[in-house]
Amino acid sequence: MQDGSPEQIILNTQPLVAGVPLKSLEGDQTPAELFFVRNHYSIPQIDSSSWRLEVSGAVESPFTLTYDELLKMPSREVDVLLECAGNSRASVQPSIEGLLWDHSGVSSGSWKGVSVSQILKRSGIKGDGQEVLFQGADQGEERGDVGKSSYAMSIPLEKAMDPDTILAYRLNGEDLSPSHGYPIRALVPGWYGMTSVKWVTAVKVVATPHDGYHQSKYYVFQKPGDEDGAPKSRVSTMGVKSLITWPGRGDYLEKGSHLIRGVAWSGKGPVLGVEVSTDDGKTWQGADVKPSRSAYSWQSWQFEWKPKSSGYFLIRARATDTAGRIQPAQFDWNFRGFANNSIHVVPVTVM
Ligand code: MTE
Repeated sequence: MQDGSPEQIILNTQPLVAGVPLKSLEGDQTPAELFFVRNHYSIPQIDSSSWRLEVSGAVESPFTLTYDELLKMPSREVDVLLECAGNSRASVQPSIEGLLWDHSGVSSGSWKGVSVSQILKRSGIKGDGQEVLFQGADQGEERGDVGKSSYAMSIPLEKAMDPDTILAYRLNGEDLSPSHGYPIRALVPGWYGMTSVKWVTAVKVVATPHDGYHQSKYYVFQKPGDEDGAPKSRVSTMGVKSLITWPGRGDYLEKGSHLIRGVAWSGKGPVLGVEVSTDDGKTWQGADVKPSRSAYSWQSWQFEWKPKSSGYFLIRARATDTAGRIQPAQFDWNFRGFANNSIHVVPVTVM
């Protein structure tokens, strides 16, 4: 499969971090070559014929799987969007350290793979198994950490047993590309992307959440005054969020009728509604939202706008989910700018 496209927004080359232009978020599936990429280290080159999956830890019967054996297991296809926990960090104030994702760290696709629950049914789980760890094949050095850290994350057993949590081998009908985790990656729907571990080589049932660098030090919420080393809450379920895909920031529009468009999603099931404001948040009107295709996909929406005068306008969109959550106006500030789902605002000029 083609890996990458000139249309991607490159945030970093080594390791590769690339975003998708907002206008390419329209449609149910982001083309695989445009799908955002977030790597912490170099991409490991893995040959599927020598790849093995070790299933071990607090299990009754540890075992090893080859790629062909995994592909022969009953499969499942799910529509799932992935959003990086640092997405939309660029607009956070006070500005923070980290890759300055504008809004390009989100994409949606159709993923095929084997439910993690199938793997765990085969191994059996011992009584003290509480979390399931996915081990990636990539590693590198981290500031403030001794030696090499390898990328690994664990999730609660209950989330791992959700049939839609899969070990994926296809995206939009094609084998995964190296940058998206070839040959096998975990896919944890509804959670920010960091637990969807790529280049998975081991699944381990463990008694406590993993204490590796990324899980215990990086993907955690840290607030001013928090002590280093004190327990921190982990980044997990995605917030409710909508993005405006058209018009773009700074666009000039003719007077007349315009369809404002966007996508909306939530980590807690479908979106109930999207409201749009074109008068700096004074009034809000409901947009037409497409029904959801799965509990974990985004929903396109549109809103007809007929500006009555020329001038400068701020367009806002805010989504509500079926769990009763509404997109906030203000970001709940944390040190790495994680989980920014504050309302997207797009300035335009009507001529
Ligand atoms: N898995 C490994 N092994 N190494 C990584 O650097 N990055 C994570 C996750 N899985 C990462 C990983 C992060 S932070 C995100 S947001 C998603 O992969 C991004 O997946 P994508 O690059 O396929 O879009």
